[in-house]
Amino acid sequence: MGKQLRIAIDGPASAGKSTVAKLAAHRLGYIYCDTGAMYRAVTWWALQKKVALDDDLALAKMLAQLEIKFVPAKEGQRVFVNNNEVTKEIRMPTVTNNVSTVAAQVSVRKVLTQRQQEIAAGGGIVMDGRDIGTTVLPDAEVKIFLVASVKERALRRFRENQAKNIPTSLTKLEFEIEERDRKDSTRTVSPLVKAEDAIKVDTTSLSIDEVVTKIMRIVENKLEKA
Ligand code: CDP
Ligand code: CDP
Repeated sequence: MGKQLRIAIDGPASAGKSTVAKLAAHRLGYIYCDTGAMYRAVTWWALQKKVALDDDLALAKMLAQLEIKFVPAKEGQRVFVNNNEVTKEIRMPTVTNNVSTVAAQVSVRKVLTQRQQEIAAGGGIVMDGRDIGTTVLPDAEVKIFLVASVKERALRRFRENQAKNIPTSLTKLEFEIEERDRKDSTRTVSPLVKAEDAIKVDTTSLSIDEVVTKIMRIVENKLEKA
């Protein structure tokens, strides 16, 4: 068995992070960890419990009692919060449009960063998010920063919604993506930014397969040198 690398995949909303991270993890026989799902789970729980989304201390208190669990499944990954399944709920627009506020809170980031570091401790992991290469795993062996034009990213979400029969407007999606990127990039703690040593991959005109192939080449190159 080769060296068990830690692979960080960061980038803005809908750049294709989770899709390619999952596929790369599968090919390598690694664990996949979707850190965005953790921020989404906290947001969903706070909305249920009516905890103010910008009240850092109240959120931290809530988080201390919160167990977030991932269960691998055929369709990807099931997410549980205190044994309640929230896989679908955390993708709802109310969560998507509020998650950046929760993710900007200092204590929330501190707790989730620590949990993510524990998950990655053994290596052999592909972790995707916004601050994996900069804060969670600053010494990850492979760091990828995925980007794509806003138009392409909105179109990808639009197609995804169409396939699920969810009515949406492309203009609205574009606005929401830009707004979330703006909030994620301008927050004080661990903003969305490319790590200096991350490799930038522009996926605007690339298929999912082409992106995975590029990432696998970078990983294989690293494994040969390890
Ligand atoms: O919709 P998309 O898959 O692009 O987002 P996500 O990966 O599910 O992340 C949802 C939100 O969680 C982001 O917009 C960030 O506000 C926050 N997040 C973060 O702050 N840090 C991470 N490592 C991952 C997600
Ligand atoms: O995790 P993130 O928000 O960065 O993006 P995602 O949920 O993995 O991908 C968003 C959508 O773009 C999905 O429907 C993917 O199938 C699609 N996609 C694509 O069309 N082409 C790519 N090169 C990557 C993703």
